[in-house]
Amino acid sequence: MTSTAFPPGFVWGAATAAYQIEGAAHSDGRGPSVWDTFSHTPGKVRRGDTGDIACDSYHRYREDVGLLKSLGLNAYRFSVSWPRVQPGGSGPVNEKGLDYYRAVVDELAANDITPAVTLYHWDLPQELQDAGGWANRETALRFADYAALVVGALGDRVSSWITLNEPQVVAENGYRIGHHAPGLTDFAAAAATNHHLLLGHGLAAQALRAAGAAEVGITLDMHPVLVLGKSAELEHAHRVVDADLNGLYLQPVLQGRYPDDASPDIAPPAHLILDGDLATIHQPLDFLGINYYTPVYIREGDRDDLRRGESALRQDVPGVVGYAPPEFERTPMGWLVDPDGLYELLLRLHEDAPGLPLYITENGCAAEDYVDPDGNVNDVERISYLHQHLDAGARAIKAGVNLAGYYVWSLLDNFEWGWGYQKRFGIVYVDFGTQRRIPKASAHFYADVARANALPALSDGSA
Ligand code: FCB
Repeated sequence: MTSTAFPPGFVWGAATAAYQIEGAAHSDGRGPSVWDTFSHTPGKVRRGDTGDIACDSYHRYREDVGLLKSLGLNAYRFSVSWPRVQPGGSGPVNEKGLDYYRAVVDELAANDITPAVTLYHWDLPQELQDAGGWANRETALRFADYAALVVGALGDRVSSWITLNEPQVVAENGYRIGHHAPGLTDFAAAAATNHHLLLGHGLAAQALRAAGAAEVGITLDMHPVLVLGKSAELEHAHRVVDADLNGLYLQPVLQGRYPDDASPDIAPPAHLILDGDLATIHQPLDFLGINYYTPVYIREGDRDDLRRGESALRQDVPGVVGYAPPEFERTPMGWLVDPDGLYELLLRLHEDAPGLPLYITENGCAAEDYVDPDGNVNDVERISYLHQHLDAGARAIKAGVNLAGYYVWSLLDNFEWGWGYQKRFGIVYVDFGTQRRIPKASAHFYADVARANALPALSDGSA
């Protein structure tokens, strides 16, 4: 059997986020976040699910670290809940909240698992939202203070820091279309949010560095934009959609400027960009985190007369529509399975940021998992998905890309935001009624890959 070896020292991890797994929403002085408010607002999350209990990882973190260990993984990406450690988003620190994360990193260290800590995975303290949230510039300053307090508490044991998770999703889903907390549909607030999140990233990166953090990065959701057909309209649409989804975040972070092609109602307005902001955003990075799930396809079409598989784009690009080619498999999220999109993306980032270490900080899929009568969860679709995407990563490495690690999303089935518990992304199944964890077949597949530091050839059967 042939297999592809990964470079020595490759990071094999799993990722989670605080609100999606911790539960203990009212324990030990935690304050409310926008996601508590949103999930408790009727009609916002499917079936009224909330993160109040989630995977109860606040109490079961030892078991969860034990799972990572038993799977032979050497890294864990998790996020710190801002309202757990600073309930109001400014002012008093909640030591009990910090103690929880101290205990988590100690447990990881005892098991030789390296932490990668995300400071913001969407759970903004509600008090800051009441003052305007990310549409208010002040939130970026509060975020830097919070980063300083977390690095002060954990910096002796954590070397890898991720400032933000997916600013694009926060602005778009949270402020522009309202599918996520805080549930706004305010285009101006969304555009401002884009800038203030990035400013928060820059200020937090400075605070982390000042405290001696070894590795500082950001995680962006990246969406290769693929064009079906050829025309001047399509070329124009390609530039605009790519700028809105990718360039708006990549360019200020990597080059200190906003892209020229972004849509005027999505890009931050000039009056919000104060002198020095772009230099602040443009901090030296030690790595770039990429979350990849699915690409965007566009083709010529009429947004007022959509055909099967077509969708209207949010951009004002006449004669062009989104399109889901029917030949692609889709996950239960409706997302196209396209590992070549990941390959293309890695090559592009290699060009945009030559030599910068890249980590896939999230990749994975929802599947319709169930415990079979033998007590197993045989998630063949996820094995296939992971196998194909890891293969794309291996191909990119062969092509010269500095891909340094991979974190599967997710360690556990968890609270999938607006979808609640209906969508299962874990390599470990969680029975939410009993909190029993059952490693799925994909966990065993992934463990074998991590232990061997090598991927079986795709034709070897799993895919
Ligand atoms: C990403 C989020 C992560 C998870 C996956 C499926 O956008 O960062 O928390 O919900 O999608």
